[in-house]
Amino acid sequence: MALILKTERLVLRSFDPAFYDSFVAMNKEEEVMKYFPAPLSKEESLQFIDRINNHYKDVGFSLYAVLLASNNTFLGFTGFMTPSFDAFFTPCIEIGWRFKKEYWGNGYATEAATACLKYAKEQLGLKEVFSFTSIHNKKSEAVMQKLGMQRQENFEHPKLDKTHWLCAHVLYVIQL
Ligand SMILES: CC(C)(COP(=O)(O)OP(=O)(O)OC[C@H]1O[C@@H](n2cnc3c(N)ncnc32)[C@H](O)[C@@H]1OP(=O)(O)O)[C@@H](O)C(=O)NCCC(=O)NCCS
Repeated sequence: MALILKTERLVLRSFDPAFYDSFVAMNKEEEVMKYFPAPLSKEESLQFIDRINNHYKDVGFSLYAVLLASNNTFLGFTGFMTPSFDAFFTPCIEIGWRFKKEYWGNGYATEAATACLKYAKEQLGLKEVFSFTSIHNKKSEAVMQKLGMQRQENFEHPKLDKTHWLCAHVLYVIQL
């Protein structure tokens, strides 16, 4: 598993089977998945891991496992994906994050994402990164704001029915 980044408290690595059980458990947490249509089954999490690993193989970057540097505990993920839907801002690169509930409130998501954006600029040569979430997901939007991302116009997620409570999304962008 490749070491991607180190921060003061965290280590970011490419996904590895050692993290799969923790990843599956995180995606089953109701509160973690509150702003997604549903928690993920084990099968769905394993398919997601395939997407993460294939994205890494195809373009050289992806979502990364975020571990506590002091003891290698799996906390969650942060990193980049290519959205799989059409919208006025796609194709694009998206930065995203998801952490086990017990690790929220420590600044880990912002610390990991700050390092990812620096890496995107300096190592990956990306020029622009987007982020989006449900208009109700204030904790995720707060991370976007702490990263210095700029709010764009809201959009309706094309994979959700217009009447679904999660359809309306905020959109942020940062030029690197
Ligand atoms: C979105 C998510 C990653 C945010 O996690 P988070 O821990 O709130 O985010 P941060 O890393 O920025 O931490 C900020 C919090 O840590 C606190 N904190 C404690 N120590 C800190 C430190 N050393 N440095 C910075 N912040 C610190 C801050 O005060 C803040 O607390 P608050 O939420 O009570 O105001 C988390 O809620 C999550 O995983 N949600 C589920 C998945 C999800 O919705 N992902 C986004 C979908 S697009």
